[in-house]
Amino acid sequence: MIQELYQKAIQFAAEKHYNQNVPGSKANYVLHLSNVAMEVLMAHKACPDFDLAFALQLALLHDTIEDTDTRFVDLENIFGTHTAECVLALTKDSSILTKRERMLDSLNRINFLEKEVGLVKLADRITNLQQPPSTWCTDKITAYWEEAILINKQLENKNEYLNNRLQNKINEYIKYAN
Ligand code: NI
Repeated sequence: MIQELYQKAIQFAAEKHYNQNVPGSKANYVLHLSNVAMEVLMAHKACPDFDLAFALQLALLHDTIEDTDTRFVDLENIFGTHTAECVLALTKDSSILTKRERMLDSLNRINFLEKEVGLVKLADRITNLQQPPSTWCTDKITAYWEEAILINKQLENKNEYLNNRLQNKINEYIKYAN
C-alpha cells in the first residue's frame, strides 16, 4: 500500500537526516524531502504514467547515501537491492574531481535506470531552484543555474510535466545571479 511504503521511507530518511538542515535555513532536511515528494505527486496527477509508490520512495531516500551515514547495504536490507541501486545512481561519486563530471556521471547512471529515477532528479532540482542562501556568490549561483540546464537536457523525455516545470524554474532563477 502506497501510504505504508511512504511512511517506511520517510521514517528511515527522517532518522538518517535528523541532524541536517536545509542549506541556508533553520528548517530540518525533511522539508527538502517532502518538497521533492510533492513534486512527484503533482507530476503523477498531471500524467499517471509511472509507478508513484516507487518514485515517492526514491524521492524520500534520494539523499541518504550522499548526505548521511547510510550505506548501500542498509538500503538494500530494508528496501531491496533495486531501490538501493537507484538511490546510488542519484548519489554523486566523490572520487570524481570536477563538479561537472560528477554530475554527468550521476546523470549517465540515472539514464540506465527506469524513468522514476530521472523524474526524482528533476523534482530534486526544481525544489532546489528557490532563492539561494545569502552566502552564495554570483559565480556559485550561475554555476548552479548552468547545472540545472544540464540536468534538464540530459533527462529530457523523462516526464513532460517536470521537464517543463524545471525549465520555468531555470528561466526564473537567473534573476538571482544579477
Ligand atoms: Ni536532494
